[in-house]
Amino acid sequence: MATILEIEDLSVHFPINIGTVQAVQDVNLRLEQGEVMGLVGESGCGKSTLGFSIVRLLRPPGKIVKGRILYHGQDIVQMSQKEILSLRGRKIAMIFQDPLTSLNPLFRIDRQFIETLFTHERGLDKKTAFRRAEKMLESLGISPERLSEYPHQMSGGMRQRIMIGMGLILNSDLLIADEPTTALDVIVEAQFLDLLNDLRRQYNLTIILITHNLGNVAQLADRITVMYGGTIAEVGQANTIFEDPLHPYTQGLLSSIPNIKLDQPKLKTMPGSPPDLVDPPSGCVFHPRCPYDKEICRVQKPETFTEDGRLVSCWLYG
Ligand SMILES: Nc1ncnc2c1ncn2[C@@H]1O[C@H](COP(=O)(O)OP(=O)(O)O)[C@@H](O)[C@H]1O
Ligand SMILES: [Mg+2]
Repeated sequence: MATILEIEDLSVHFPINIGTVQAVQDVNLRLEQGEVMGLVGESGCGKSTLGFSIVRLLRPPGKIVKGRILYHGQDIVQMSQKEILSLRGRKIAMIFQDPLTSLNPLFRIDRQFIETLFTHERGLDKKTAFRRAEKMLESLGISPERLSEYPHQMSGGMRQRIMIGMGLILNSDLLIADEPTTALDVIVEAQFLDLLNDLRRQYNLTIILITHNLGNVAQLADRITVMYGGTIAEVGQANTIFEDPLHPYTQGLLSSIPNIKLDQPKLKTMPGSPPDLVDPPSGCVFHPRCPYDKEICRVQKPETFTEDGRLVSCWLYG
């Protein structure tokens, strides 16, 4: 398999009046073409910041302070604004929790598709563009007649599908979906995840699915990355993560959802809350909440250990 994205030693900070939020710290991650990577962790762990960094859409005062993001070998961190604009939307699509904020409420859906196409593919005629929009709606399971509607006339689930369509119509190969189903009800959510699965097969899409809902990733992800306190706790195949989580944080996350069997001793609840990233704990960021916390964990950042093809940043495995 070819590598589509390689994140190397990435750190992203938000300088604010009381200090610096270390939202993403020394993150390494590699994505293979065609895989679905679930990015999970409690709120405030840096998942969205990592996602936004990849498309260079960090909200101010966010800054990439260190590292590289290689997309097909090209460093996104070093790209000019012009290069990044042509990449965003065209090669890398990102969808958010609330698609209404990304669709223009004043324009009909057909116009939004056609303008997206015209912006990126010069010389395209209107008829061809319209036909491509119709075809895209069909593959999203939406009747092409609805192209003449405005965003507010559509349900949340449909708007979310339209958002994906906007990305795919330009032949994006990487889709970053940040909590895409949070605003949807359970049935629409399931349909949406099914659709994502169909689309990834049809278009050989690579997907980063950001979610705090482990049920979602269980359904879709090939691999899972667990983030905690701006760092990566564990990366592995989805089934092995669910069956045999190595990192104590992953174990805690999994024990908090029903219907998943664990061989590991269960943590009934995970005490405490994610750390303040302006003043993160010394050593391992998870040590104040960790039931296995030992001396070294308080003073030294864990190295990343490889265990059966999985990566885990925890001194238990050192
Ligand atoms: N625009 C911002 N200004 C200051 N701090 C921010 C901003 N956006 C995010 N953060 C901080 O960065 C950290 C990671 O946030 P985020 O990436 O949104 O986490 P997640 O998506 O996992 O919930 C949090 O501590 C959050 O408060
Ligand atoms: Mg988020």
